[in-house]
Amino acid sequence: MNVLRNISLLPYNTFGIDEEAECLVEYDTIEELGDILGDTAYPRPLLHIGDGSNLLFLKKYEGTILKSRIKTLEVVDQDEKHITVRVGSGWDMDTFIQHCIRQGWYGLENLSLIPGQVGASAVQNIGAYGVEVCEHISAVHCIAVEDRVGHTYDNAECGYAYRHSIFKTPDMRGRMIVTHVDYRLSKTFEPRLSYGPLKSAASQIPNLTAEALRDIIVDIRTRKLPDPKVTGNAGSFFMNPIVPREHFEHILSANPAMPYYEVDSDHIKIPAAWMIEQCGWKGRSLGPAGVHPHQALVLVNNGGAKGHDIVNLCNSIIDDVQQRFGITLHPEVNFI
Ligand code: EPU
Repeated sequence: MNVLRNISLLPYNTFGIDEEAECLVEYDTIEELGDILGDTAYPRPLLHIGDGSNLLFLKKYEGTILKSRIKTLEVVDQDEKHITVRVGSGWDMDTFIQHCIRQGWYGLENLSLIPGQVGASAVQNIGAYGVEVCEHISAVHCIAVEDRVGHTYDNAECGYAYRHSIFKTPDMRGRMIVTHVDYRLSKTFEPRLSYGPLKSAASQIPNLTAEALRDIIVDIRTRKLPDPKVTGNAGSFFMNPIVPREHFEHILSANPAMPYYEVDSDHIKIPAAWMIEQCGWKGRSLGPAGVHPHQALVLVNNGGAKGHDIVNLCNSIIDDVQQRFGITLHPEVNFI
């Protein structure tokens, strides 16, 4: 266990925001987590973070920030075709994905290089290139903050939807801490190539392997998305809005080249990046906060930005998109 007091959060958020925390504790086991939850000497409120890749700190955090370093991995079930592994919340998701590919456990390849920890993947329902992690989660194991009792939620109970789970609802947020995630993976590699650019890149490779698919994804991501070690950012800043078909058709009639995805017969998902670009924000800055020149959905810290600089930019973009398309964008990033 590692207890730090009055420290800079710079190493704990990928946006590179230099705010402080009154207390930050990294724990290695469920027992340590239980001790922390039961000890009122740790200042409240508590905030659990992962790798800080989806957070925007707006001021000093007065309270205790918790971070998991639980790095266990055990096989809990398997047959000829599938394997279920129980993975500690503190694993780095991409390290886990690489481990899976080496072991011959398939399904998560398309999520390669997404920043963040295993615990956060189950809360956030991370997704990329036609795959969402919930397709492979069979159970999520948690500890209740209030009484330290363990709870297990099966996939249906997690209430998964696009970038959403029960753990993000007002009733649950901050009440449950994910300690382990069960992933059900396939022993046969079946590439998922519904995302257009992936399909065309993969078609160039004879006998596509999971490693090769991972390489393609790593290549696409590194070309489009800024490396947080170089330029502070939190990946996609906004969620892609899902709008009623009528509203979508109205926008489409004026913008026939607009990209979109059908969610169901009544709802259409429109890429926020496209709308932001149409509003002229791609590559533009407002003070030390900017819009990435290669992916308009990513806001970046040009150096020395404070949380409110990013919020100013965020609000200007929301206003412009609202005015032009009548759609309100919602941040995917959590403001703290
Ligand atoms: N587009 C633009 N301008 C841009 C970028 C994209 O017009 O600057 C258009 C593209 O032409 C494309 C569409 O928008 O038709 C979608 O773009 P892209 O495939 O890059 O994906 P996205 O919808 O912007 C989502 C996820 C990403 C994930 C990609 C790939 C969300 C909020 N974001 O982005 O996830 O990597 O799809 O599957 O759903 C993240 O969550 O941090 C993240 C990076």
